[in-house]
Amino acid sequence: MTIETRQNEMLLGGIKASDLVREFGSPLYVYNEAVIRDSFRMINNSINYEKKRIHYALKANNNLRILQILEEEGAFIDAVSKEEVMLSLKANYSPQKILFTGINLSDDDMDFAVRNSIMVNLGSLASLEKYASKYPGSTVSIRINPDMGAGHHDHVVTGGRDSKFGIYYSQRGQSDLDMAFELIRAKKMRLSGIHTHIGSGILDEKKYSRLMQLILNIALKSKNLEFIDIGGGFGIPYKPDEHSFDFRLFGKHIDEMMSSFTREYGFSPYLALEPGRYLVAEAGTLLCTVMDIKNTPEYTFAGVDTGFNHLIRPMLYGSYHPVLNASRLEGTKKEYVVSGYICESGDVFTRSESGFRPQHMTEVKPGDILAILKTGAYGYSMASNYNTRPRPAEVLVTDGEARLIRRREIFDDLIRTQV
Ligand code: LLP
Repeated sequence: MTIETRQNEMLLGGIKASDLVREFGSPLYVYNEAVIRDSFRMINNSINYEKKRIHYALKANNNLRILQILEEEGAFIDAVSKEEVMLSLKANYSPQKILFTGINLSDDDMDFAVRNSIMVNLGSLASLEKYASKYPGSTVSIRINPDMGAGHHDHVVTGGRDSKFGIYYSQRGQSDLDMAFELIRAKKMRLSGIHTHIGSGILDEKKYSRLMQLILNIALKSKNLEFIDIGGGFGIPYKPDEHSFDFRLFGKHIDEMMSSFTREYGFSPYLALEPGRYLVAEAGTLLCTVMDIKNTPEYTFAGVDTGFNHLIRPMLYGSYHPVLNASRLEGTKKEYVVSGYICESGDVFTRSESGFRPQHMTEVKPGDILAILKTGAYGYSMASNYNTRPRPAEVLVTDGEARLIRRREIFDDLIRTQV
């Protein structure tokens, strides 16, 4: 990732970090529109197979403007709640472009989907049975747990024996998936798609090639599928020694696998992918301001005006995010632990799996602006009001111009729902 600079200050999409904070306040999520569009095009252009659908997993970032940008690029949607479906409709996605992969679906969720012509993707025998009895003869998709999983942390592995997701499939003998196929036949339902999603933050393209082989073999068991969905999970490099997900190579494998599948199947279904992180993570930066500096025998802490209420990934998964002193990029470097303003000792941004991991940055002074990088995915969308703190504003930078796309919360927002 290249960092743009001017007069030793960090620029975001051509605008100084300090100018953004002066205009929109601190802390602030800033997104670069060009990076979002480029990431989408990288996936789209890497796959030649024509019948492809790129469903944006909007749980990664649910800002309406970002949804619209991706809609303009030709995205479909992976939604996991009724409200995510509603948001997608509001962003002008047609119902046919939305796949609703809920978990523990309620009657209300199902009724809502049917009323709005949204395809549901069911991940258990119980939900399939319920749907079949409520809506006999209807069309569904099913989520399969292919007995393999992967991901950057245990919390985000969504396939395999420990996972609550999907209808379990085993290559050895009878499994729940056979019962699901049986049920669909018995209730005269139409199976339009099969889906799987094995985890998140996966950098190894070979995992997907294996997954695809498996899922294509399962697909051979049902005729006339409209789509085969291999889910999301494509990682991005957070740590300095990590590499990018190789979409060009994966795209080639997809093309080969799909053309030999089509020959055997006698028909080309759509291939769906559900990237979330890949499309938005690198476009986003969380800017914050240094309030405090202090030393202990162990560390120098740089205390900032944000916390795990705005970016929980380091605290929740031990995730690494690079941090820069945006006010002074060049100069003598020192090691800092960047700590948040939440009243818990765990509220530290500079981490790795094994605990605090100080980062080298140009000497930090109170008033400096720090940039926490690669925070466009699962940043704002996982934010909370813990410690009765308002959530920050979001700004989109396009062609050197910054525009507010979500205002900062105020005290009234925090008490609006209390009765
Ligand atoms: N499809 C389904 C059904 C999913 O559950 C998810 C993510 C995705 C697609 C998109 O995955 P992605 O391409 O973004 O990896 N909060 C965690 C990530 C949790 C992902 C949950 N499901 C994090 O910050 O790393």
